[in-house]
Amino acid sequence: METRSKLGTPLPVVHRGSGRSSMTCAYRCGNACAHEAPNTSDNPYFGDVLNEALSRRGFLKAGAAAGLVLYGTTRAPSALAQTPNRATRNRSGKLTFDPVSPNSVDDLIVPNGYDYEVIARWGDPILRGAPRFDFDNQTGEAQAQQFGYNCDYVAFFPLRDRGRYSARGLLVVNHEYTNSELMFRDFDPTGTDPEDLERIQVELMAHGISVVEIHKRHRGYRLERDSRWNRRLTAVSPMRLTGPAAGNEWLKTSADPTGRRVLGTLNNCAGGHTPWGTYLSGEENFNQYFVNSGAVADPDKRESYARYGFGETLPSFGYRGWERTEERFDLAKEPNEGFRFGWIVELDPFDPDFTPRKRTALGRFKHEGAETTLSENGRPVCYLGDDERFDYIYKFVSSRRVARGQGRRARAHNLRLLDHGTLYVARFTGDSPPEEIDGSGKLPSDGEFDGTGEWIPLVTGDESHVDGMSASEVLINTRFAGDQVGATKMDRPEDIERNPVTGKVYAALTNNTSRGVGDNPGPDEPNPRTNNKHGHVLELAERGNDAAATRFRWKVFLLCGEPDDPSTYFAGFDKSQVSPITSPDNVAFDAAGNLWIATDSTRSLEQNDGFFAVPVRGPERGFLRQFLTVPFGSEACGPALTPDQESIFCAVQHPGESDGATPDDPASSWPDGGQPRPSVVSVFKDVPGDKRIGT
Ligand code: FEO
Ligand code: CA
Ligand code: CA
Repeated sequence: METRSKLGTPLPVVHRGSGRSSMTCAYRCGNACAHEAPNTSDNPYFGDVLNEALSRRGFLKAGAAAGLVLYGTTRAPSALAQTPNRATRNRSGKLTFDPVSPNSVDDLIVPNGYDYEVIARWGDPILRGAPRFDFDNQTGEAQAQQFGYNCDYVAFFPLRDRGRYSARGLLVVNHEYTNSELMFRDFDPTGTDPEDLERIQVELMAHGISVVEIHKRHRGYRLERDSRWNRRLTAVSPMRLTGPAAGNEWLKTSADPTGRRVLGTLNNCAGGHTPWGTYLSGEENFNQYFVNSGAVADPDKRESYARYGFGETLPSFGYRGWERTEERFDLAKEPNEGFRFGWIVELDPFDPDFTPRKRTALGRFKHEGAETTLSENGRPVCYLGDDERFDYIYKFVSSRRVARGQGRRARAHNLRLLDHGTLYVARFTGDSPPEEIDGSGKLPSDGEFDGTGEWIPLVTGDESHVDGMSASEVLINTRFAGDQVGATKMDRPEDIERNPVTGKVYAALTNNTSRGVGDNPGPDEPNPRTNNKHGHVLELAERGNDAAATRFRWKVFLLCGEPDDPSTYFAGFDKSQVSPITSPDNVAFDAAGNLWIATDSTRSLEQNDGFFAVPVRGPERGFLRQFLTVPFGSEACGPALTPDQESIFCAVQHPGESDGATPDDPASSWPDGGQPRPSVVSVFKDVPGDKRIGT
């Protein structure tokens, strides 16, 4: 196999290990797949664009007109709404790039005519006076001023610059977890080495969120180290709990008798960005940082911790030993600390002094995506996934409308939108006879895996809709609420996002190798494959095309895998023309409404992860092509496009993550030829002419 490097020269193919990396499982998911699935219940700017959206009663027209909603604050007066760009003024946005071939190369591979540049690597200094990265002499103090580890969700917040909206902006990136075995030489996996307390400090500081200002250059973007907006949030940064459950007894600790003040954010995976210019970050596998849930005295709390996958003594795998320096991670000493994680965190990147808010109204689970759209009457709607096998899809609908304008009053109003509203969970019903869903992926006789669905209300403000549970109980133990109302058990819901051009909603279901295996639930029409190794993508159409609707129709858009696998499905498109894909994770849209997908496969197809693009309408609906591949051992995160559509950001997470890999025997040397370093890159066209990505 010959594969193009970014310079066009053939690259050697790396063969190392195969199949799932247990290190991935250990440090990201706390080995979620190694234990029983926790769900054992028995139920089956402000500015012109925003004003335009509101005046026309709908996000869609604004989306179609301008692609993205932009932002502004009183503190960032230069940030304004995006004006319609070339991509939306002209032509069809038809995808024409040459797909990248599947490979196992240790480099980021882009299509012919494209190139990439690294913007920020793990350890790059991002605050004024921050020290340079020194792999063999890491300290927590230095890491707290440097770009964090394992970059995941990426959002670009444009700053207006002489009428342009892609020349400058704030890049906000979260850092999901740490690979101790790749970050430190001689890491002791028992987590008990008395000499490695500084290692724990580094890991605490390598989690969280980074905010950096970036400027467009001839090739890619450059990080501005002295920007006043640059910021690091870590596992110890002060945050506030807000919304209906804030202050609840279950959220109080000895350090915080108010139940409203938390230190840090953990395992930040996907997220979202809002029309009012804030960043949302999902706390995902937060269970893996805690020990001793079995020592908690209250049986209700122990039951809750079990439902969320906490270990009774140590985490099931991937022990970091953090309780040795931060006692709160020992639940025997601080039994409520684990309830203070698992939330959606909202950050105002334009206010460097902003204390991030954990929004309890959006429920507590292993949060993945939190992308926001507007209802027909201008209320925010957030689509939410709980990334666990057999867990649920949710959405939050605010009871308040977004305020127009850039004044302080409007800003303050909008920063409370996610504290007031209704949290729903999804129930899917197939329209084909259940006996036609045989788990093989064979289409039922009506030709599609499809049906209807409803959003079941769980809680509105202080009012619970779930029998026997208070509003706070629903919000803190949201999984129990979903169990009780009979929500549909899904194949690991990850990112869920509304197409700004069509209004349809796309949900990535990464995979579920337990579906139909043993005593686990069998296939159903929305999750139609037994042993769903490669995942699928659902397409939802809300009734009346209103994101606040409580009914929807749905269909399976993709069943992923090798195209010659008979269980795969690409919206009916000719499978001989499409790229193999496995484990869809993050989703995004370009200005033409094409769907972009990032994958997180742990090499279940023996090929590197990457980005894919696929039209969702017209004769090429389902024509999926691979746009890039990421270096060996890494997962592709993002994607995020700039308003001018001329750059796409990719977060390369955990390069070199592979069984047995260590700093002395690394599986990747990306991006600089030394130790592998998770990094965010921008990809751009490197040829004259139309510079729009994908076209
Ligand atoms: Fe961190 Fe669900 O991926
Ligand atoms: Ca059907
Ligand atoms: Ca993810």
